Amino acid sequence: SNLDTIMSEDEFATFVDGLPREKCRGPINFWYQWDGYWYRIDFLKAAIAAQSGFLARDDDVILTSSTKTGTTWLKALIPCIMAHNRDNIDHEEDDPLLRNHPNQLIPSIELSIFNPNNLDPDVLNVDEMPSPRLFRTHLPYSKLPESIKNDNSSCKLVYITREPKDVFVSLWHFMNSISNAEPCPTMDEEFDSFCKGIHLFGPFHDHVLEYWNESLKKPEKILFLRYEEMKKDPKGQVKKLAEFLGRPFVNEEELDNVLWRCSLERLKNLQVNKNGLEPCLGIPKIAYFRNGLVGDGKKSLTKEMQERLDQITREKFEGTGLDL
Ligand code: A3P
Repeated sequence: SNLDTIMSEDEFATFVDGLPREKCRGPINFWYQWDGYWYRIDFLKAAIAAQSGFLARDDDVILTSSTKTGTTWLKALIPCIMAHNRDNIDHEEDDPLLRNHPNQLIPSIELSIFNPNNLDPDVLNVDEMPSPRLFRTHLPYSKLPESIKNDNSSCKLVYITREPKDVFVSLWHFMNSISNAEPCPTMDEEFDSFCKGIHLFGPFHDHVLEYWNESLKKPEKILFLRYEEMKKDPKGQVKKLAEFLGRPFVNEEELDNVLWRCSLERLKNLQVNKNGLEPCLGIPKIAYFRNGLVGDGKKSLTKEMQERLDQITREKFEGTGLDL
C-alpha cells in the first residue's frame, strides 16, 4: 500500500517538479501545491498512496480537520465514546488515556499509516485492525480516498474547525514549540503565509468550506463541529457526537466522566503527555496542549492583522451559511 506500488521514484520526482512550491520553515523544506492545497513532501506521498491504498469499512470513524482546530480533544473523545467498556472506566487502569498520548489512540492516515518517514517502528497494518477502526486525517475532502467518499460507504466523518484567528495563533505557538529551525520566520511572515493559504494543508478557509458543503449534503455521514461551540456547551456537543457515532450515553454520569477524562486540564497534566515525543513525528507530546482559549487571536494579533484575516473569512464564507 505504499507509493512504490503506484508510481516509481522517478515518476514521483517528475510529478513533484511540476508542482508550484514555496519555501517554508527549516533549511530544506518546501510546501508543494497539489490541486489547490499545500503539502509537505512526505505527506504528499502519503496522500497519493492513501488514495488507492486505503479501503474504508462501513463502521470506520474518521476524524477530519485542518490543523490546530482542537483535533486533539476529539482524538481523546472519540476513542472514549467508542470504547466497549465505557461504563466501566471508573477503573482508572482501564483508561487508555493514562498510557497513550491521544495521537496514539487514533492513527493518522497521512502522518502515520502511509507516511514514508513515520518514525514509529510499530506502523499499523490497517487491514488487520479490528473494527470499528478509528482514523484521523488533515486531507481536504477532495483528496480523501475514494473508498471513504463513495456513496456506498457508510463510514462516518467528524470534522472540527475553529475561528481562523485563534487557529493562526495556536499554529504559531505550535510551530515555535516544535521547530528549532534557523532562521525562524517572524510572526508577520508566518501570518502573511497563513493569509495567502500557504501553510500545512492550507488554505484553511477552503478546507473548512469543502467539509462544510459536504456536511450539508450528507449530514448523516459528516458531523461538522466547531471548537467554540464545544467550549461553550461541552455536554450538548459531546452528547450530539455520541449520538452521531451510534453510541449514545446511557446517563449523565457517563457523559460527565468522558468529559472529565478528555479535559485539557487533565490531559495536559498526565505523565504520559508531559514528557517525551509523539512516536510517529517526533514532536514533543506536550506541544499539543496549550491553553485552549477562545479569543486568543484577538489578544495576540494587531488590529491590522485581525482586520486582514476577518476580511478573508468574510469574503470566503459569504453566502455559504458558514460563519466562524
Ligand atoms: P491552543 O493552542 O489555542 O491552546 P489540534 O489538536 O487540532 O492541533 O489543536 C490544538 C489546540 O487544541 C490547542 O489550542 C490545544 O490547547 C487545544 N486542545 C488540546 N487538547 C484539548 C482538550 N482536551 N480540550 C480542549 N482543547 C484542547
